[in-house]
Amino acid sequence: MHIKSKLPKSEITIFTVMSGLARKHNAINLGQGFPDFDCEERLRNLVAKYLNDEKNQYCPMPGLLDLRQSISDKIQLTCGQTVSPQDEICITAGATQALFTAITAFVHPGEEVIILEPAYDSYIPSIQIAGGIPRGYQMVYPDYAIDWNEIESMVNEKTRMIIINTPHNPTGTVLKKSDLEALENIVANRDIIVLSDEVYEHLIYDGATHQSVLRFPKLYQQSIAVFSFGKTFHSTGWKMGYAVGPKYLMDEFKNVHQWNVFCVNSFTQYALAEHLQTPTNYTSLPTFFEQKRDFLTDRLKDTPLVPKLSQGTFFQLFNYAALSDMDDATFAKYLTTEIGVAAIPLSPFYSKPPGDKVIRLCFAKKEATLAAAAERLAKLAK
Ligand SMILES: Cc1ncc(COP(=O)(O)O)c(C=O)c1O
Repeated sequence: MHIKSKLPKSEITIFTVMSGLARKHNAINLGQGFPDFDCEERLRNLVAKYLNDEKNQYCPMPGLLDLRQSISDKIQLTCGQTVSPQDEICITAGATQALFTAITAFVHPGEEVIILEPAYDSYIPSIQIAGGIPRGYQMVYPDYAIDWNEIESMVNEKTRMIIINTPHNPTGTVLKKSDLEALENIVANRDIIVLSDEVYEHLIYDGATHQSVLRFPKLYQQSIAVFSFGKTFHSTGWKMGYAVGPKYLMDEFKNVHQWNVFCVNSFTQYALAEHLQTPTNYTSLPTFFEQKRDFLTDRLKDTPLVPKLSQGTFFQLFNYAALSDMDDATFAKYLTTEIGVAAIPLSPFYSKPPGDKVIRLCFAKKEATLAAAAERLAKLAK
């Protein structure tokens, strides 16, 4: 039988490739973005409690109402905005499903989606499955600044969506209030939806404020924001997340969600609903991760790797131009196989890589792991 692939150019993700190489060469994996420490014991106990308390059947289609209420309370506390638990929140199987559902719900064949590259790798395939056309705007090292006039010049009658991501993977940059205001002006009076990937909302440093689309009432009316409990509560393997948006958009989102998964894992929703009621469980995260960022940066200060201090996420970029002429994929492989530390190159996040000599390291690791990696990287003597 002949089948016609919807993603004929799709390759194995760079994360899988580099993690495989890390295992083969016994390298310390600072490549893939997940913690090497467990999620909190209290949260694990809550999950066990509900698992053993007959909370194992279907939840309501948009998710457990108690969890949606806890999320609404959190939004009130962190953004000062009121969102309806009944109408404006839907619990999803991680942020990835929320992104996929939003894209397939709103993007029709032939319509265009503007993405800002380097971009998280699920965006383009999701757009293509929907029959949409990705249009990449290139952000470049070292500032990764966005020229919103240029974004506006990319907009035409076919533009249906603009995807943003703040704090940003892989660059560790965060959008400013002025960025969100510029975006608000661009989409105003146009049938364009903003899909805002905010999975690292609580991983933001140096006293900065996360500029969520939820803070901008006018922009919010045209937005769907996407979040991940995996990133917030060190539980990436559970694949739990949620989407937030105005009712008229969420009705359409749920229209696709119900035929996609209908509802997601039940007992973790009960546990997360309870865990979220203690705000320090998420307000403590900036300090927790900032220490790790500073620890790694300090340990690498005598190497030729030049850091671009992360403003958010658990990633930090390092420029290796003083050390090598290799392209970033070759250099990341060299680090993995010869130095024993796995890193991620940035070129796979671009459709047309600009050739920057930059790699991404993940600092969501135990201090001992970061110290051991730094010891190996010290071989890259100045
Ligand atoms: C920017 C970004 N968006 C979405 C996701 C996916 O999140 P989840 O694991 O909740 O699906 C990730 C995970 O790495 C990410 O970095």
